[in-house]
Amino acid sequence: MNVMVIGRGGREHSIVQKLSESDRVETIFAVPGNAGMESEADRVVIDESDRDALVDFARQNEVDLTIVGPEQALLDGVVDAFQNAGLSIFGPTQAAAKIEGSKRYAKEIMHNWSIPTGAYQAFSQLDPALAYIEDVGAPIVIKADGLAAGKGVVVAESVSEAKRAAEDMLIHGQFGEASREIVIEEFLEGEEYSLMAFVHEDHVYPMLPAKDHKRAFDQDKGPNTGGMGAFAPVPGLSHADIEHDVQTILQPAAEALLAEGHGFTGILYAGLIATDQGAKVIEFNARFGDPETQVVLPLLDNDLTKVIEAVMDGRNPGLSWKDRYCGGVVVASTGYPGSYDKGVALPDLSSANGNFVHAGTETDGGKYVSAGGRVLLAEATADRLPDAFKAIYQSLAVFDDTPAFFYRKDIGPSASLPASFAMKKNID
Ligand code: AMP
Ligand code: GLY
Repeated sequence: MNVMVIGRGGREHSIVQKLSESDRVETIFAVPGNAGMESEADRVVIDESDRDALVDFARQNEVDLTIVGPEQALLDGVVDAFQNAGLSIFGPTQAAAKIEGSKRYAKEIMHNWSIPTGAYQAFSQLDPALAYIEDVGAPIVIKADGLAAGKGVVVAESVSEAKRAAEDMLIHGQFGEASREIVIEEFLEGEEYSLMAFVHEDHVYPMLPAKDHKRAFDQDKGPNTGGMGAFAPVPGLSHADIEHDVQTILQPAAEALLAEGHGFTGILYAGLIATDQGAKVIEFNARFGDPETQVVLPLLDNDLTKVIEAVMDGRNPGLSWKDRYCGGVVVASTGYPGSYDKGVALPDLSSANGNFVHAGTETDGGKYVSAGGRVLLAEATADRLPDAFKAIYQSLAVFDDTPAFFYRKDIGPSASLPASFAMKKNID
């Protein structure tokens, strides 16, 4: 098989690594990929949003299957373009990807299908938004309706902060088109975790749950990022918990999209929060999570191409998982998620004895240099989570004398869910 992976981040490198284990896969094309993928894949210089060029390339190079990483490509309609050209592609259509692309749409679906989530209202005018904030009080959460590169969410501690956020988004166009409308949402408290599933129409096959760490700095301080580290599975979450989440959240979401005439094929990702009343949805994504994918796929025993083929054919892929734990810690460019330098030389990774999943890297004169905010992720699998993180942190010591890069020192199981969560949830 020839398989094409669209995207350039850590998530896509992890997908490429998994595909490279398959004895059915002859060539992997990474479009445009990153430097870390060069040993496993052929990189192709086409932009993720250039649908016509992607379709032409897939045709000319006899690509049997295309896997889409980033949400923007999905919302640009890359899947529709491939389907129209009669090419096989794994991901939701533009209409189905709206569950990620519009927070108001996602909230409407949840409301109409009784999927547990925080109370909310959507606004396109400032005055009623301010009145609603006044009415509900703080803390309260203000979200841009559209995609805003993970920056469109303000968890406001005070009414004045919330009002300012609403004004910035609605009046000052802080996120352009994405914040012409906002969702104002109840503040929810609890541990967050992510549950991804392979989905085709109303068939839902969950993966292992994962725990992301979104804040930039230790002790969950600093701004929200795309994710600074993760592990899977999540201690304290039982098989029964996951089954409950599938039945109350992922399954009805898949059925809702099908009923709306936008049957979903691809990865449906639920960002969940374990509240006293059970798991509630923070967000849906229409794709693999990053960095969750980097710690979930290494635990998958199946051939990823066979899983995807089965799911797309409406067959049960028979997912099988290693009885182990996988962890990952992101190394980022100093300044991320704000502005940062690019083109900075990485330390010599060959001396580090680790598995590095690349995100923002390029090569310059035969050496790796940084090319993004999140640079790479050090990953390890072990029978116990603490052992995985011990290995990860040992391999990351090579970054300790490099002021241009930073990583969180506290990613790990201390942040996992209390074992009592499963019991609490069943009280309802
Ligand atoms: P999102 O981009 O929707 O994943 O939101 C980014 C982060 O904001 C989440 O990971 C949460 O930590 C936080 N957040 C979003 N919505 C809520 C909410 N309703 N209550 C509390 N925290 C939230
Ligand atoms: N890790 C969060 C995301 O992929 O959106």
